[in-house]
Amino acid sequence: MKILVTGCAGFIGFHLCKNLFKKKNYVFGIDNLNSYYDLQLKNDRLSILKKNQSFKFFKLDISDTVKLRNLFKKNNFDVVINLAAQAGVRFSIQNPKTYFESNILGFYNILFFSKEFKVKHLLYASTSSVYGDPNFFPTIETNDTDKPLSFYAASKKTNEVMAHAFSNIYKLNTTGLRFFTVYGPYGRPDMAIYKFTNAIRKNISLELYNKGNHYRDFTYVDDVIYHISKILNLKKTKKEKIIPFRIFNIGNSKTEKITKIIRIIENHYNKTAKIKNVRFQKGDVYKTFANINKISKLTKIKKRTSLDKGIGLYLNWFDKYYE
Ligand SMILES: NC(=O)c1ccc[n+]([C@@H]2O[C@H](COP(=O)([O-])OP(=O)(O)OC[C@H]3O[C@@H](n4cnc5c(N)ncnc54)[C@H](O)[C@@H]3O)[C@@H](O)[C@H]2O)c1
Repeated sequence: MKILVTGCAGFIGFHLCKNLFKKKNYVFGIDNLNSYYDLQLKNDRLSILKKNQSFKFFKLDISDTVKLRNLFKKNNFDVVINLAAQAGVRFSIQNPKTYFESNILGFYNILFFSKEFKVKHLLYASTSSVYGDPNFFPTIETNDTDKPLSFYAASKKTNEVMAHAFSNIYKLNTTGLRFFTVYGPYGRPDMAIYKFTNAIRKNISLELYNKGNHYRDFTYVDDVIYHISKILNLKKTKKEKIIPFRIFNIGNSKTEKITKIIRIIENHYNKTAKIKNVRFQKGDVYKTFANINKISKLTKIKKRTSLDKGIGLYLNWFDKYYE
């Protein structure tokens, strides 16, 4: 298959492309290589991808309508997987416009060209943040998502409703993926696991929000990629033949207190974290915990990576990469 992966130099995009090569797909990757976090990490991921002959990279911004249209026109993609986005809840407080441009305008372009150039399946990243602060857990796909707490969450919720309209009107086959705190090798430096590891390793103080009184459903990146690879070959159900639209929670379905991460990292380095407590952050949600019955039924995944094992793999990578 000819697959377009947007945000290919990003954390999840990098792992996804590597997996797609194994199945003999031809992968086109695009990324605007912005400097939201360390560009060296994005370039290192890219140079690994570029070693594969079935990979072609274009430095391109999904909000650039003209260039994106040309790319779609020239290449007849079978599948498009949109991971390009401005990620991060806290950054969206100071920089909402970036989220509008990449996540809303950019996503509109992806939708429109997928329709115009008859893409067979469009998959796109959404987030657990669309659930806001729900009243009960684990959250299920049919839960209320009408009260996003951050503009990041609002932008992703917007993607889901735009996709629904395109699926209804133009019969564009779309699948939204609500990722729950994805972690693993080559992970993002703006995320807690990276920040904690870096601080404990270097004996510098780490900022802990709300005394660590948060819970997250940490999901190992290989499990995420496994799910996506299964979703790629989905057959439409009867209902989806009418409106080819679906949403999946992609989580581990185990919620863990943030401080547990600190303990695991402390044990690995045999060091004690120097904690600087800071107040609860605006826009943050208190807890995420995914009901994954819908995706599990489909992919029949039995064993999910435990937090201890996943963080162990992450720390081994971290030690080598930042040696
Ligand atoms: N990692 C997680 O825990 C998590 C959780 C929920 C949702 N998500 C979503 O999954 C997707 C991938 O996340 P990630 O963790 O790999 O993030 P990432 O920031 O590592 O990857 C996103 C990539 O997209 C690129 N990009 C950003 N705006 C772009 C634009 N306008 N045009 C082209 N490229 C652009 C960036 O340069 C980056 O390389 C994102 O949509 C994110 O919002 C991630």
